[in-house]
Amino acid sequence: MAGPDALNPVAERLKDDLTELATIRAPESGGWTRTVFSEPYRSARDWVRARMRSAGLDVHADGAGNLIGVLPGRDPSAPALMTGSHTDTVESGGRFDGVVGVLGALEAVRLMRENGIRLERDLLVVDFLGEESNDFGLSCLGSRALAGELTRAHLDRVDHEGVRLGDRYTGFGLDPSAVLGAAGDFTTNGLHRYLELHIEQGPVLEEHGSAIGVVTAIAGIRRLVADFIGRADHAGTTPMTVRRDALAAAAAAVLAVRQEGCGAPVHGVATTSRLDAEPGSPNVVPARVRMQAEMRSVDVGWLSDAQRRLAQKITEQAGEFGVDADLRWSVDNDRVPAHADVQQTITSITDALGIGWEAIPSGATHDAVHIARLCPMGMIFIPSREGRSHCPEEWTELDDILTGVRVHTETLIALDRS
Ligand code: GLV
Ligand code: MN
Ligand code: MN
Ligand code: MN
Repeated sequence: MAGPDALNPVAERLKDDLTELATIRAPESGGWTRTVFSEPYRSARDWVRARMRSAGLDVHADGAGNLIGVLPGRDPSAPALMTGSHTDTVESGGRFDGVVGVLGALEAVRLMRENGIRLERDLLVVDFLGEESNDFGLSCLGSRALAGELTRAHLDRVDHEGVRLGDRYTGFGLDPSAVLGAAGDFTTNGLHRYLELHIEQGPVLEEHGSAIGVVTAIAGIRRLVADFIGRADHAGTTPMTVRRDALAAAAAAVLAVRQEGCGAPVHGVATTSRLDAEPGSPNVVPARVRMQAEMRSVDVGWLSDAQRRLAQKITEQAGEFGVDADLRWSVDNDRVPAHADVQQTITSITDALGIGWEAIPSGATHDAVHIARLCPMGMIFIPSREGRSHCPEEWTELDDILTGVRVHTETLIALDRS
């Protein structure tokens, strides 16, 4: 068995990987942009595939477009260990969200191989397809499909260009029926444990000076698409009292969403992220508005109550503007707890290494939400500078990434034996 220092990640190697992947992005967008189904995303994943191979993994893509690198274990019949994350980004996002979990897992594999550590179980390193929420209001496409949670109805959702999700898959070279059939396709023996390393994307670890966050649960997400239907009229002649201004009703709804988030008792947030107003002419009272919003919390009761309160308030307020509101809610994911045994394994490793940690809920969603349907999961967080994420300023110090990879590597080895 290798001594502890031999399991220290190699800083230059990891830094080079992070730097190289960061060069693959949409040139016309700000920050780091590799949205799902885009050309930069396709190129980035070719790069990831090659990197997986050079780390010594047997690589294949499953029907759902997940890239899976296999490090064979001693016992091919044992349920496999899985790790990974994603390499897609939001529009104008950062360099670390998801990427740290994929490249960190590759470094873990290299460390195991260099130190002659052979796991009992196969280790599957996965770059899940399209984790970020997209125009279809759906996050975690790849892990959702693996868990059998992607449905035919999802494939019929359309984006802002009116294109079906199913057709986006086809355009990316994936067969929609293979996507739906990918569940259970990836291993014959089932999964033993899933572990994901990720940046916190919030301010807590930095504020508290904790190097590691041990995730307790991942927040549930309720999404809302609301259509406000008013009436187009002349903006110069129609008296204020008779207008049916759809955008005014939507503006009131935006504030109601914000107010609900501000009133959340525990970790709870609410965000309106998009308004599309028609006809959008300077001299016409807006006739129709589509609004996109979401609420998140690890408190399931609050989520349900907040949804009920908001639905009532938005409809009532719209009525005061003479506007009809058509609200369509969906659950992107339910709250998912991290498994107690996996949390315990992470904390014992972290304690043994003398690294400071704290237990922390995740407001961001992750592929782990869906893989939790298949086996016990856990997540390791590392600090984000000023809590910034989903923006070009997203940053995590290399030293913090190295600490995360160290804990991640040792936790994988311990989980293999658990
Ligand atoms: C993705 O990062 C999300 O949390 O929505
Ligand atoms: Mn992420
Ligand atoms: Mn993200
Ligand atoms: Mn996420």
